[in-house]
Amino acid sequence: MRFPRSKLTYGIVAGFSCICSLRAQEPAAHPRVDIGRMFFGLNATPNPEAVDRGQKMFVANCGFCHGSNANGGNSGPDLVRSVLVLHDEGSGTQIGPVILNGRPDKGMPKFAFTESQVKDIAQFLLERGQSAVNRMNYKILDVNTGDAGTGRATFQQRCASCHSSEGDLAHIAAKYEPVALQSRFLYPVTHTFPGMPSAPVDPRSQVTVTVTVPGGKTYSGALKTIDDFSVSLIDSDGEYHSWPLSEESQIRVEVHDPLKGHEELLKQYTDADMHNILAYLETLK
Ligand code: HEC
Ligand code: HEC
Repeated sequence: MRFPRSKLTYGIVAGFSCICSLRAQEPAAHPRVDIGRMFFGLNATPNPEAVDRGQKMFVANCGFCHGSNANGGNSGPDLVRSVLVLHDEGSGTQIGPVILNGRPDKGMPKFAFTESQVKDIAQFLLERGQSAVNRMNYKILDVNTGDAGTGRATFQQRCASCHSSEGDLAHIAAKYEPVALQSRFLYPVTHTFPGMPSAPVDPRSQVTVTVTVPGGKTYSGALKTIDDFSVSLIDSDGEYHSWPLSEESQIRVEVHDPLKGHEELLKQYTDADMHNILAYLETLK
């Protein structure tokens, strides 16, 4: 759930702030391909941090169709060999319009990404293209190459506060194909498109808000809308309430987003984490 968080100065407190004790980043798995680069005249060097962010965005949002290493998947073409992507050279100028507008008639949905998110994905695709030049690195992102035992330990540490392998995630691997499962755990609010199994509960319907008005009376319910100027909710009786927000209105707003934990985790996974967790989830047949 993405709120326009920018100028909300009304004390938004997101629920479930995750105090995760995470390992330091492992050395980045972005091998240099100097010989290939010289040989093929590939001059642009991808920025490792951008590649890392772009990879997560890509695997979560695009991997289901284009494959998690971008060389073709369920219904989307190989992007590593796409001429359009080649001409993009990591800039986002070529792929940006495709991502933002989609090609709805051809099965490519559109995504409301920011310029910097597009740029990160572009950097990831640039890195994929250059790795493809060096065959050895081509398959590093294949799903199902992780270690289930390590994944289990990571699960206990980071996921067990909200999930259980015998409870809500029992048989999760029987429900989703590996690539779909990967995108569901990376970011459960995936876009609904043909072929992608949808969530049992739409997490967006679970975002709640508590509004405290001057004098101390509080209202709680399902968050309907929120931006810099107003907030609205539907309470348990099905009643709609809304308040204008301004510096003078002195309204306190607390948003509880159950996916906050996933948002935080997404920023922190290493490449190995993603593979190991998936390998563990795959044992939950
Ligand atoms: C539901 C499946 C699906 C998803 C999800 C999806 N795509 Fe696509 N994508 C397609 C299909 C199908 C095409 C081919 C459209 C066509 O034939 O013109 C395509 C085409 C493209 C192209 C143009 C390739 C070319 O050579 O013309 C780019 C770039 C692209 N997708 C990037 C992405 C990115 C980045 C994401 C994630 C943010 C994404 N796609 C998510 C299905 C998907
Ligand atoms: C702070 C709580 C929280 C944490 C921590 C958390 N999740 Fe989730 N997760 C949720 C919520 C909320 C949903 C969406 C509602 C639902 O589908 O249960 C969800 C959904 C999912 C789904 C989709 C379930 C389905 O049936 O489609 C998977 C898979 C998943 N999480 C895996 C993980 C893994 C793996 C971790 C740890 C790396 C993790 N989650 C950490 C709260 C959390």
